[in-house]
Amino acid sequence: MQPDGCCIQKAAKLLQQSQLVGIPTETVYGLAANALDAQAVEKIFIAKGRPSDNPLIVHIAEVEEMSRVASEVSDLALQLARAFWPGPLTLVLPKRDVLAPQVTAGLSTVGVRLPAHDVARQIIRAAGVPLAAPSANLSGSPSPTCAQHVYDDLCGKIPLIVDGGPSLVGLESTVLSLEGVPTILRPGFITQEDLEHVIGSPVALAPSIEAQLGQGEVPASPGMKYRHYAPQAEITIVNADLARYIQFLESEKQKDPGVVALSFQEEADSLPVPALCFGSVHDPASQAQKLFSALRQLDQINARHVYVRKPCDQGVGLAVRNRLLRAAAFREIEL
Ligand code: TXA
Ligand code: MG
Repeated sequence: MQPDGCCIQKAAKLLQQSQLVGIPTETVYGLAANALDAQAVEKIFIAKGRPSDNPLIVHIAEVEEMSRVASEVSDLALQLARAFWPGPLTLVLPKRDVLAPQVTAGLSTVGVRLPAHDVARQIIRAAGVPLAAPSANLSGSPSPTCAQHVYDDLCGKIPLIVDGGPSLVGLESTVLSLEGVPTILRPGFITQEDLEHVIGSPVALAPSIEAQLGQGEVPASPGMKYRHYAPQAEITIVNADLARYIQFLESEKQKDPGVVALSFQEEADSLPVPALCFGSVHDPASQAQKLFSALRQLDQINARHVYVRKPCDQGVGLAVRNRLLRAAAFREIEL
């Protein structure tokens, strides 16, 4: 449904009646429920098939609403909210008990975010409550970056999807813990450098961003332990220059003629195998915007064996790498 005033009202009404609504945000589409309503929040876990120990992000429409869901808002939290909201940053804060218990999955903290998409904020305001909203995909599949992706995953399971156009960022928000040294739990469009610039001191990266956790290890952000963003295909990241990569693909093609490449747009024509593009080699933001959609297309063309040349991991590139590593189940080779 296109987001006119009538649609916003319909979404708000459904949310007030403990129903779920697919909503657009600038990062990815969210599956929203009233965060204060345990019955509604329970439906999110059922619709997505999401493990109950993975907490949800709570979305608000004004900076002042932080204290409605967080029991303490430090000066630093307020400073970051003022600098980056509305926008793709989630702040992990001490929670308030008004939240439905499943939202925080037993943690003492809550992830809070004020999205930059106008339609998302209009829906939150009209509903009059904070909204718990994970990405609106089935658990384990790539996050949805347009309304059609939500429909493909959740058709028949939710009463309304609000179509706010393609998500501009394309990857989920940066999740930042403010306990002790500020630490990025999940990288996103707001980078380590962006945060350090505002905070004025070093920001750490959680170990689970780059490395696969060992058995029994507990990540600071529960979502990082699950296999994510994974298409049916087996994806392998290849760390090589373009010339060696082309040679490598030539030889792989001999072994399996069905090999497909996930490619930067500038390189697609020079590759010896069919290629699906996900942005420019020089522009991590364009890769971020297109990655999840490209992963979904791999399933549509029934790709089984996929290679991707390692993208630059600086700035937003770190978030792209983090999602690609998970899509590839950490398969990476060096030539
Ligand atoms: O951009 C986004 O953040 C999107 C849109 C819809 O806003 N939402 C999203 O939600 O990505 P979800 O549920 O797919 O991912 C939430 C991530 C998970 O990795 C979860 O473990 C982490 O945030 N998280 C949520 N609350 C947390 C908390 N209190 N402490 C640590 N990590 C938390
Ligand atoms: Mg998700």
